[in-house]
Order: sequence, then structure tokens, then C-alpha cells
Amino acid sequence: MTARTSLDMWKSRNQIIRLYDVLLDACLFLDVSHNNRLFNVFAKAQRKYSNLSCPVKANLIYAFNQFYIDEQQLPSFIPLGGFRSLIEYSSKHKLTARIITRGKIVPRP
Ligand SMILES: *[C@@H]1O[C@H](CO)[C@@H](O)[C@H](O)[C@H]1NC(C)=O
Repeated sequence: MTARTSLDMWKSRNQIIRLYDVLLDACLFLDVSHNNRLFNVFAKAQRKYSNLSCPVKANLIYAFNQFYIDEQQLPSFIPLGGFRSLIEYSSKHKLTARIITRGKIVPRP
């Protein structure tokens, strides 16, 4: 199984910055700690809020429950604005799951 994952941030209405877009083995994504801190935030949230674990087996149901991104996990340098994270799992080149997280970093009140 493979995982394709990307993260885009909106700097302004029409300026989108792609922070990463990678294709990797699903188990590498889930089980390994990564150097890119933002990348880790999404990988860790998946471990925490799902029963998805490696090796991923066919004919089993995996569930996500109350998935969210903890703001404490975000790096302090994160720019304000909207973001979209995409995670797509594919098996034998067939899409099996797509998780899209949309959010907005807003200034502290
Ligand atoms: C994951 O959790 C869901 C919902 O609780 C359950 O139906 C499913 O069997 C679980 N899957 C595994 C692999 O444990």
C-alpha cells in the first residue's frame, strides 16, 4: 500500500504554497518519525485517532474517530492562512481511502 500526501497553504486568495507532495510506502508514512515537522503532525494524528496500523491488511475495516490536529503540535513558525492536507492510500494503484483536512491558522485573540 502506498500513501500520497500533500500540504498546501494559502498565503493570499490566489497564492498557494505547496509545502510537500510525496508518495511513499504507507507503513513508512505511518510508522516512521519524519524530519518535516508538519508532515509528522498529520502522521501522528492518524496513529492517534485511527486503528490503522502496519502491516495494513486486506478485508479489514479501519476507522478514524474524532480526528483532529492539536495546535500544540504545530510549529511556532507556521504562517497564518488556510491550509489543505491530502492523504490518499492506494493499493495496487487503486485508491482505497482519501482523507482531506482543511483548516485555517488564525491569529491569537
Ligand atoms: C477499527 O475500529 C472499527 C470501529 O471501532 C472496527 O469496526 C474495526 O474492526 C477496527 N479495525 C481493526 C483492524 O481493529
